[in-house]
Amino acid sequence: MASSKQKPLPLLLLLICLTLTLLIHTTTYNLYPDNEPPTNRYYTATEPPSWYDKLQYMIENRSDKLKIGLVNLDVDQIQVNGLADVTTINFKKIEGDKKWEDFFPEWVDEDGKWGPMKCPEIPMPRDYEKVDVVVARVPDGGRDLFRLQVNLVVANVLVNGGWDDGEVVYVVFIGKLGPMWEIFRCDDLIWEESDYRIYKPDLKKLQQKVNMPVGSCMIPSSSFSQKVYGTQSTYKSREAYVTVLHSSETYVCGAIALAQSILQTNSSKDLVLLADHSITPKSLTGLKAAGWKIKLIERIRSPRAKKGAYNEYNYSKLRIWQLTEYDKVMFIDSDLIVLKNLDSFFGYPQLSAVGNDKYMFNSGLILIEPSQCMFNALMEKIFTFGSYNGGDQGFLNEAFTWWHRLHSRVNHLKVFNDHDQLMIEREMPDDLYTIHFLGLKPWVCYKDYDCNWDMSDRRRYASDPAHKKWWHVYDTMPAKLKPFCGLTRKMDARIQKWRGIAKRSGFRDEHWKIKEKSNIDIMLPAYETLEECDDEENKADMIHVKEIDGSFNNQLNEIGHKITTSGWFVLEGE
Ligand SMILES: *[C@@H]1O[C@H](CO)[C@@H](O)[C@H](O)[C@H]1NC(C)=O
Ligand SMILES: *[C@@H]1O[C@H](CO)[C@@H](O)[C@H](O)[C@H]1NC(C)=O
Ligand SMILES: *[C@@H]1O[C@H](CO)[C@@H](O)[C@H](O)[C@H]1NC(C)=O
Repeated sequence: MASSKQKPLPLLLLLICLTLTLLIHTTTYNLYPDNEPPTNRYYTATEPPSWYDKLQYMIENRSDKLKIGLVNLDVDQIQVNGLADVTTINFKKIEGDKKWEDFFPEWVDEDGKWGPMKCPEIPMPRDYEKVDVVVARVPDGGRDLFRLQVNLVVANVLVNGGWDDGEVVYVVFIGKLGPMWEIFRCDDLIWEESDYRIYKPDLKKLQQKVNMPVGSCMIPSSSFSQKVYGTQSTYKSREAYVTVLHSSETYVCGAIALAQSILQTNSSKDLVLLADHSITPKSLTGLKAAGWKIKLIERIRSPRAKKGAYNEYNYSKLRIWQLTEYDKVMFIDSDLIVLKNLDSFFGYPQLSAVGNDKYMFNSGLILIEPSQCMFNALMEKIFTFGSYNGGDQGFLNEAFTWWHRLHSRVNHLKVFNDHDQLMIEREMPDDLYTIHFLGLKPWVCYKDYDCNWDMSDRRRYASDPAHKKWWHVYDTMPAKLKPFCGLTRKMDARIQKWRGIAKRSGFRDEHWKIKEKSNIDIMLPAYETLEECDDEENKADMIHVKEIDGSFNNQLNEIGHKITTSGWFVLEGE
């Protein structure tokens, strides 16, 4: 009997052990006091009760359990077990030694001289399964590669999950900043509460973005543009070229030439010009005759710009997002002319542009998708986002860190690397889509040569062949538009002054020797407003210089550095 009594003892010990471990186990996992009702258990500290309820309400009448896929979250961080089927979507975290600049390099081999362009890889999930809801925790931050990776993983899960047309999928983003708006449109946000946001993404639009290279390290293939563009051609009237005139009439002539140059490429798009109160009715008539549809706007002040600075109202450009009667808008600065039809570029998504320096794009030509909520979001940020140059370019580069590169031919910046005092041909490449006239604008020079030659600090912008192309557009304009490009006496006096300085300095290119004859014949003292705007231009130059002397010192050093390392840099506002 003694031997039979000994047997249950180890069993009992085992049982005690088991209950003990179970007890410890449950206490560590139960984050809540014992009196908390068990139904509340899935509301952990990171989950407010509302998003799950909200989803259940939206995805009503389902007999089976919701399927939830988690991105950058563990199953135990979202305790909806029992209520939903939860799976974790695994992907390899991007390596720590990769930098933003690897994905947004300053220079890319655009023409594939050294072989096909390549981007570094951002790991994506191996397989995708269809879920009802993706719940993702997005890291906050500016140019942060892990943030980009998480956003792209979610986008890929959504477009590769096998949803049919008309089927709906939701995403819950957890995080202070929410998802990157470059990828998840604010238009698709349907609910938000503190750090939780529910999106109902437009999968077709998302697909477009997933098709794009992961950074500006590559130019999207032209087949992308053609493919998308082909299916969109029925929306022809929902696309437009847009420019903005504000604060002075300095660029009226430029905008007239721009419209004329676009029309000469037989574009089928609308031309829309946003003008503030400073543009006179007379000028508006000319702009209309040139081909623009005019919309009056109230200009927007850059909160960080100095009073009276040349770029004080540069944020007026943000109004292009309010043109919601268009799906896509190609904004073009008024100091560009178009040489070759750009219509096919409407196939690219927001925001597509040409590179400027570092990881940034040039805002002189940008393709965007108008959206009122995007406009509101940008306006909310004008106080929080910095701008390296106080202008719209710096701001937009903070707002759209994830952008798509267009070939530099699409916005050809007229600037040269050499500081040579000799006259150089400075020919323009043949296949340019546009020329962006940096430095002094062609219409404030004589027709005969680019007057940037006459100023030592502008000589890197000088090119007679480019100058000639602008004046060719002028020559083919209807006669009634030409007066808007007339020289005023003051403009003429300024050219003369700098010619004198160039002569005394003995610039060896000897442009100052050229006997001017041309646009003198259209000198128009009658245009008082142009007279005024000339004043403003001189003033603007002075302020600009002052700014460089003062707070822009750091920037200036960087520019110096850039010129030596990479060849070119564009200081906006010139
Ligand atoms: C859900 O069911 C209710 C009542 O049966 C019905 O009125 C409603 O239209 C259904 N909703 C959906 C999305 O099917
Ligand atoms: C534009 O159309 C006109 C008339 O159809 C044609 O003569 C001209 O060559 C076209 N221009 C371009 C750039 O395609
Ligand atoms: C600001 O606006 C002015 C006038 O429209 C323009 O010349 C300049 O390029 C803009 N500058 C920046 C930094 O965006």
